[in-house]
Order: sequence, then C-alpha cells, then structure tokens
Amino acid sequence: MNAAIWATIKLAAARGIDVVGVERGYDGLIDGDFRPLTRTTDSGALAPIEGVAWLAGTGGTFLGSSRCARFETKEGRAEASRQLVDAGIDGLIVVGGNGSLTGAHLLAQEGPTPIVGIPASIDNDIGGTTTAIGVDTALNTILQAIDNIADTARSHHRAFILEVMGRRSGYLAMNAAVAASADGALLPEESKTEEEIVDGLEQLLRRSFAPERSKQRVIIIKAEGVEVPCTRLARLLGERVADLPNVDVRAAVLGHIVRGGRPTYRDRMVAGRLSLGAMSALLKGRTDVMSGWSVGAGTETA
Ligand code: F6P
Repeated sequence: MNAAIWATIKLAAARGIDVVGVERGYDGLIDGDFRPLTRTTDSGALAPIEGVAWLAGTGGTFLGSSRCARFETKEGRAEASRQLVDAGIDGLIVVGGNGSLTGAHLLAQEGPTPIVGIPASIDNDIGGTTTAIGVDTALNTILQAIDNIADTARSHHRAFILEVMGRRSGYLAMNAAVAASADGALLPEESKTEEEIVDGLEQLLRRSFAPERSKQRVIIIKAEGVEVPCTRLARLLGERVADLPNVDVRAAVLGHIVRGGRPTYRDRMVAGRLSLGAMSALLKGRTDVMSGWSVGAGTETA
C-alpha cells in the first residue's frame, strides 16, 4: 500500500495536483485527520513532501489503517463526506480490501466527493481485478517459508501442515501449494468437516510414505479459514498414522508474517499501475469505480 501512496503522490505532483493523506483510514476520515503529502518548492513546482520516498519499499501503510465501526453507519459516512467537503478535497482514492472498498462504494453513492478504489488484499478475493496489492509479496514470503520448512521435513522424514492467511479465501494456500509442489491444500471453499479432512490427509500420508516410494517429506498448506487448528490436525493425524515407521507430523502457522515485508518488484509495479488507473479515472470525472488489473495493464472497471 505504501507503494501505491507513493505512486499517487508522484503522479499527482507531476500533474500539479495537491495530495493530502488521510491518517488511520476511515477513522481519520471521520475525524478530519488529514496531512499534506505534496509541497510547493522554491521554484514554485509541486513535489512530494520530504522523507517519504523510501517508504515505497516498505510494507503496510505509513498513513495507518483501521477497522472503523463508525464508518459502517450512515451518520459516520455523512461526517466523512462533510470532512472531505470542508477540506476542499476534489477526489478520494481508497486503497484496501473488500471492507474498505465496500465503504468507498457507499461513500461514493451517499456523498458528493468522487471516489475511486485501488484493490489491496493478500486474499486476492476482490471482484473486477485479477490481482491486488500485496498478493505477490505474500506468495513469495510463503514460498520461502515452505522451502525453509521443507529442509527440515526432508531431513527428518516429516509431514508438515503449514497454515497461511485467508479467512474466507483459499487463494494463497492453493497458489502457494502449486508453486511449491506441496502435497495437499486445505481450502475454506471446500467446506469439509474435521473428519473428512483427517480421513483425506491420512490417505495422503499413507500413499506418500508407502515403502515402495522414496518420498522424504509431505507438505500440506492449510488456509486460516479451514477452522480446525493446525496443531489439532497434526495431533489427530499423528495418532492415525502412528503405525507408520519414522513418520512425524508437525504444524506451523505463518500468520501475519505473510502480510508484511518488503514488497516484491511485481507488487510495486502493480501498485504503481493501479494508482495511475485510479488517478486517470478521477481526472476523467469518474466516481464509484475501481482501478483493476487485467491482462497485465491497469484499467478501470466499474
Ligand atoms: O483480509 C486479509 C486478511 O489477511 C485475512 O486473510 C485474515 O484473516 C485477516 O486479514 C486478518 O486480519 P486481522 O489482522 O485483523 O486479524
């Protein structure tokens, strides 16, 4: 998200457009907590404020974010609209996932300020775009973790169940599993019961560690949204395959490690192009649209 904020500041300054940042997401919007992100230089040109360029290479958002209950009410959104008007703001870009973009959609419908969204969610579950900011960095972080864990798994003839984020979406688990040649993926979209999961994994382990195969490790990627905890799964599975010689089942949870870190080249490039799409939309007078990714280019989709 920092890469998107930085790209927006640069693109706007180059077009002579002032940018102010909203602190703490919708909480800051309701409270009118704005800060200038562009400045006028001695020669009269518009430029990014000093001291923020390096942030483009960091994860998260230096403006802060929030889960804002007040914004879920009509009164809260009316106050946010009033703050935008009072501050003389001509357009708002909202960077975020499903919750943030739903809020942006409502605000665009209820208030006078034009609003354009930029999709940012490691879950990659936002309609109208094939990718979102953060997805590539998250997947690369997961791949590195799988590679690291696979070293131990192979050396010790172990099965590992590795949990990655994704409360309602198995996108990260599925794609990481394919890219890392994992042996299985557990996804919330499958809606399996605990028993079905354990039965399936038991068969997988028996096939994989069959004496005629020389397989050294089994890696299963589980999405957070599959409700059986990783440690419980490892214990239940361990009990089921206790008769298999030298097979040990372990669990690891990556958690928020996956949501941070230095953005990859692709994420920075995606953030830049989506920001360009968002700015173009605002300059064309559009509102209640999102900048989306399609066949490698930043485009607007309603
Ligand atoms: O929406 C993205 C996401 O990373 C989900 O996959 C995850 O369940 C959730 O955020 C975690 O949110 P929080 O940090 O508020 O627990």
